[in-house]
Amino acid sequence: MSIMLFLIFFLSIISPIQMDSPKCAKFSKFPTKGYSMVFKVSLQGCGRFTKIQDAINASIGSTVTKTLILIDFGIYRERVFVPKNKNNLVMQGMGFLRTSIEWNNTASSSHGTSESFSVALYGDQFTAKNISFKNTSPAPNPGADCIIHSVAKENTIGCITANGRNTLRDRTGFVFVNCQIKGSAKVWLGRAWRPYSRVVFSKTYMSKVVSLDGWNDMEHHSSQKTVYYGEHRCYGPGVNHSQRVPYGKQLTDSEAAPFTNISFIDGDQWL
Ligand SMILES: *[C@@H]1O[C@H](CO)[C@@H](O)[C@H](O)[C@H]1NC(C)=O
Ligand SMILES: *[C@@H]1O[C@H](CO)[C@@H](O)[C@H](O)[C@H]1NC(C)=O
Ligand SMILES: *[C@@H]1O[C@H](CO)[C@@H](O)[C@H](O)[C@H]1NC(C)=O
Ligand SMILES: *[C@@H]1O[C@H](CO)[C@@H](O)[C@H](O)[C@H]1NC(C)=O
Ligand SMILES: *[C@@H]1O[C@H](CO)[C@@H](O)[C@H](O)[C@H]1NC(C)=O
Repeated sequence: MSIMLFLIFFLSIISPIQMDSPKCAKFSKFPTKGYSMVFKVSLQGCGRFTKIQDAINASIGSTVTKTLILIDFGIYRERVFVPKNKNNLVMQGMGFLRTSIEWNNTASSSHGTSESFSVALYGDQFTAKNISFKNTSPAPNPGADCIIHSVAKENTIGCITANGRNTLRDRTGFVFVNCQIKGSAKVWLGRAWRPYSRVVFSKTYMSKVVSLDGWNDMEHHSSQKTVYYGEHRCYGPGVNHSQRVPYGKQLTDSEAAPFTNISFIDGDQWL
């Protein structure tokens, strides 16, 4: 086993250096220091794989060393599954408008809601940068585009999002539209992992698992002034606002519009 691992490490180190070709993303600009393995995935044939899942399966998934998966421009129509034993994966897309993973399963087209994912993450320490995950199935009405199921441990409060927006100019954030938040353990809607963390829930069903205070500043009280946390037309037993933290906003339709408009992910410059 350890010889196998060693061999895999070794092969990844001596694999020939690939030059960037003009039709491909500039993979070489991404630092690879600190990664034990680096895989390139490209629909244009500029990498070792054309499917993201193949790169995930080829990774060691070690708890101590990181694997970088560079993903070329394009729409990857595949369902991506990161199993429990694939830890420390870093997926680097070429921009969230240019690299996306799309799948169109719904609960009825697959084997129930837990199988209807586009991207499912069970490995620890997963990071994705500059890539979009989309479920492109037509939205059922009233909505259940996505189901968030909380399974945080008992006596702790889990968290649905931790958006790492660092400055006002980053065009990043999490927007959840037509979702359902269910499950068995208390969750916050978001916590201020970075000062400009930005998260909006719109038209989302919130069961009582949502913590009454709603959001958490992770003891960075100064972030309360800079985060953007909004709820818009949400419903269900978890939406009672009377005890929400003061920096959690209830958004009007016009305040929510820039986020719920598909242009937030599809790219019109709105900032
Ligand atoms: C990747 O691994 C998973 C199990 O972890 C397996 O179910 C799946 O078939 C594999 N996919 C490919 C493309 O090899
Ligand atoms: C994401 O992409 C933008 C341009 O599309 C770039 O400016 C930014 O540095 C990238 N960030 C990361 C973490 O890859
Ligand atoms: C997903 O897309 C495929 C190909 O475009 C189509 O055949 C299938 O019916 C779609 N499934 C759902 C549930 O929309
Ligand atoms: C909201 O919560 C407050 C205090 O926890 C409670 O007094 C009030 O009745 C609740 N409102 C609804 C509509 O449940
Ligand atoms: C979404 O944004 C685009 C461009 O900013 C605008 O033309 C369109 O009317 C908006 N759609 C909705 C439903 O607000």
